[in-house]
Amino acid sequence: AKLNTLAKAKGKLYFGTATDNSELSDAAYTAILDDNAMFGQITPANSMKWDATEPSQGQFTFSGGDQIANLAKTNGMLLRGHNCVWYNQLPSWVSNGKFTAAQLTSVIQTHCSTLLTHYKGQAYAWDVVNEPFNDDGTWRTDVFYNTLGTSYVQIALEAARTADPNAKLYINEYNIEYAGAKATSLLNLVKSLKAASVPLDGVGFQSHFIVGQVPTGLQTQLSTFAATGVEVAITELDIRMTLPSTAALLAQQKTDYTNVIKACASVEACVGVTVWDWTDKYSWVPNTFSGQGAACPWDQNLVKKPAYDGIAAAFSS
Ligand code: G3I
Repeated sequence: AKLNTLAKAKGKLYFGTATDNSELSDAAYTAILDDNAMFGQITPANSMKWDATEPSQGQFTFSGGDQIANLAKTNGMLLRGHNCVWYNQLPSWVSNGKFTAAQLTSVIQTHCSTLLTHYKGQAYAWDVVNEPFNDDGTWRTDVFYNTLGTSYVQIALEAARTADPNAKLYINEYNIEYAGAKATSLLNLVKSLKAASVPLDGVGFQSHFIVGQVPTGLQTQLSTFAATGVEVAITELDIRMTLPSTAALLAQQKTDYTNVIKACASVEACVGVTVWDWTDKYSWVPNTFSGQGAACPWDQNLVKKPAYDGIAAAFSS
C-alpha cells in the first residue's frame, strides 16, 4: 500500500507533502504527486506566503495559491495553508518603522483575514504564526514583535478564526523537537494562549533533521505539547546528509524516517506527517546548506529510496 493509505490505516488523518507551483509543469513529478493514496495532504511551499499573496498593501494575488488549492481539491487531498505571519518572505512594505502599533494590527488583521477568507472551507489547517522564537528561546525581534510585542500572535489567531472558523489554527516552529529553551518558550506561549482562550488548535513540528541526529525526545515533545490540549503534526519533515549519499547514509536515513513516523504514530494527537517535498529533485536543502542534500524519501530521479520503505514500515507496524 502507499503512504497515505498506510497513515490512515494507522489512525492518522494524512501523509502529505509540500509542493511548489514551478514543479507542477514536470509531468513525471505530477504523475507521482497526483495520487491521494500516496499523498493525502498538500502544503504550498511558497505561494501562500505574504510576499506572494499581498505584494503591495491591499493588493492581493492568489493565482499561485489557487493552483495548489485546486490541485488539492481535484486530487481529494487536505490542504495546509502556509502561512499568515512570518518574519521571512515578507514584502518590503511590511518592515520596521513603517507602522504604528495600531496600523500594524490592522495590517495583520487584513492580511490574515483576507487570506483565510479566500480559502475558507478549503484548508484543513493554517500555519497562522510561523517561527516566532529564536533558538535560545527569546522572541524573534521581527517587525511584528518590535511593533506589537507578543500580542501579534493573538491578533493573527483571532483574525484567522473569524475568517475561517473551521480551519485548525497552528503555530509552526522548528527546533522544538527536543527539550530546550526554544521548546519551553513555545510551550509556555501555548499554555498562556490556551489560558486566555485565544483560538489555537495545533502546534506544527517542522522537523528539518540531519541523518543520524533525529532527536530521541521527539515523541515526548509531541506528547508534552498535546497535553496542553492542542493537536500536533509533523509539518515539514526532511532528513539531510552531507553529500554524496552512500549506502550507509541511506540506511541510517531509513532508520531516521522510521523513528519520526513511529513517534507521530504513537501519539494520538499527532494528526499527520508532511514531508517538505517528496523528491530530492525539488528539496530546498541544497540551496540553503551547501554540500548537503538527499533529504527526501525519493531521489533526484523520482526513485524511492530506502527511507520510503522506512516510512511505510513504521506506519504498518
Ligand atoms: O521566486 C524567485 C524567482 O523569481 C527567482 O528567480 C529565484 C532565484 O533565486 O528565487 C525565487 O524565490 C525563491 C523561492 O524559494 C521560490 O522558489 C527564493 O530565492 C528562495 O529563498 C525560496 O526558498 C524557500 C524558503 O522557504 C524561503 O525561506 C523554499 O522554497 C521553501 O521551501 C522554504 O520553506 C520554509 C518554510 O516556509 C518554513 N520553514 C522552513 C522551510 C525551509 O526553509
